[in-house]
Amino acid sequence: MNLQQNSGLQKVTVTGGEKSSAQLKKSKLKRYISRKEIKSRVRKLAAKIDKDYKGKIPIFIGVLNGSFIFISDLVREVKLETEIDFLKLSSYGDSKISSGDVKLLKDLNCTIEGRDIIIVEDIIDSGLSIKYIRDLVLSHNPASLQFAALLFKKGISSLDFGIKYVGFKIPNKFVVGYGLDYAQKYRNLKEIFILRN
Ligand code: IMP
Ligand code: MG
Repeated sequence: MNLQQNSGLQKVTVTGGEKSSAQLKKSKLKRYISRKEIKSRVRKLAAKIDKDYKGKIPIFIGVLNGSFIFISDLVREVKLETEIDFLKLSSYGDSKISSGDVKLLKDLNCTIEGRDIIIVEDIIDSGLSIKYIRDLVLSHNPASLQFAALLFKKGISSLDFGIKYVGFKIPNKFVVGYGLDYAQKYRNLKEIFILRN
């Protein structure tokens, strides 16, 4: 579609139908984890959560933006009654390496005190973000706190606490898709890809 409108004040050109930059750059992507593998693993994690939280109403807290697809698939597989909230941290920007400086861009809206909290992350790399979130949530006295991460990069982080629900442990490669981005691109891919340099 290529539409030209004359509003009287200015000419507005609306274009569409072009290939997205994600499509154009697909050659840089190597398929790593298929839709089927993700689906099956998410189901297993949900079943474990159902068992572990029987009789409880946990609050799932998604870390924006990367976890938005994972959390939506995960909570739909969970059979428990749940509540959902989000927080947002500063991102890597357009870099593949953490600046080491974590900032809170959107705080929680829910009451944490006395509740069972499950933080949902897309990926744990250096572990800085998850450490920051843990301190933040613990300062509000939850009844319990656990973490679900779709991906966990092996041997990178030095966490002094466990991640109870891990989808896949992966080597130190930069991955995109299924919510994960590089410079805000590729989040909408259905599978997980390694982004080649
Ligand atoms: P950490 O603080 O170094 O553990 O990084 C956590 C955040 O960095 C994740 O929530 C992602 O948003 C982002 N990140 C880390 N590794 C990757 C990657 O391989 N692809 C896309 N985003 C990543
Ligand atoms: Mg993230």
